Amino acid sequence: MTTRTPLMAGNWKMNLDYKQGLSLVEDLGDALKGGDTDAVEVAVIPPFVDIRTVQTAIDANKYPIAYGAQDLSEHIGTGAYTGEVSGEMLTALGCTYVLVGHSERRQYHGEDENITNAKVKAAIAVGLTPILCVGEGLDERKAGKQVEYTLAQLEGGLEGLSNEDAGRVVIAYEPVWAIGTGEVATPEDAQEVCGAIRDALGGLFDDEVKETVRVLYGGSVKSSNVGEIMAKDDVDGALVGGASLKADEFAKIALYQ
Ligand code: G3P
Repeated sequence: MTTRTPLMAGNWKMNLDYKQGLSLVEDLGDALKGGDTDAVEVAVIPPFVDIRTVQTAIDANKYPIAYGAQDLSEHIGTGAYTGEVSGEMLTALGCTYVLVGHSERRQYHGEDENITNAKVKAAIAVGLTPILCVGEGLDERKAGKQVEYTLAQLEGGLEGLSNEDAGRVVIAYEPVWAIGTGEVATPEDAQEVCGAIRDALGGLFDDEVKETVRVLYGGSVKSSNVGEIMAKDDVDGALVGGASLKADEFAKIALYQ
């Protein structure tokens, strides 16, 4: 059986300027000391303008924290794309991860399957690990269509990838109705869709992809509920929003204490 190292990632969203981001990453580095950080991978996903500061603090202090960005351009290389940030710019800053297709990008910036697919490919092309976010809204959940809806986003986002490239992706299942609402999916809800994602990966790609790709859960994760969610077979980590803005709380989540 394959062991997947859990990934506990904090998505800061549009919060914290670079000075506040520096304090948070230093406090998080301290809070993680003494914890078993060999058993998990901890990552922060700050706004673009904080990344350089976060990089410097992590490098200088050798904190066991990876980092990444919340989005990237689907355009590769350089060019006249005002406001865009390329994958190459992120790798130059030492980023490991990049979120793609977060529900807030889909909702407020009209990102559809074509764009998420192009962004997944742009990330892979420069050696970044895309964290492809998928998940249903309340209407689909009420209609019992959560699996069908989420798998359509999954398929669209991964279309055209080779087995090798698909094996480098992380999937984050974030039911939209549970994001920032305090409404957490039950561990069984999370397992139902995360398990369906894993099975679908097996159908779309080879068994190695199915066994090695990490599937995270996101949506109102806190230190008080992370343990039961992480206990589920097909949940390999968490993508945390609000609770990742407090160092002690995020450290507890990351170490699931
Ligand atoms: O990407 C993380 C996310 O959308 C969940 O946010 O605040 O419910 O933990 P939150």
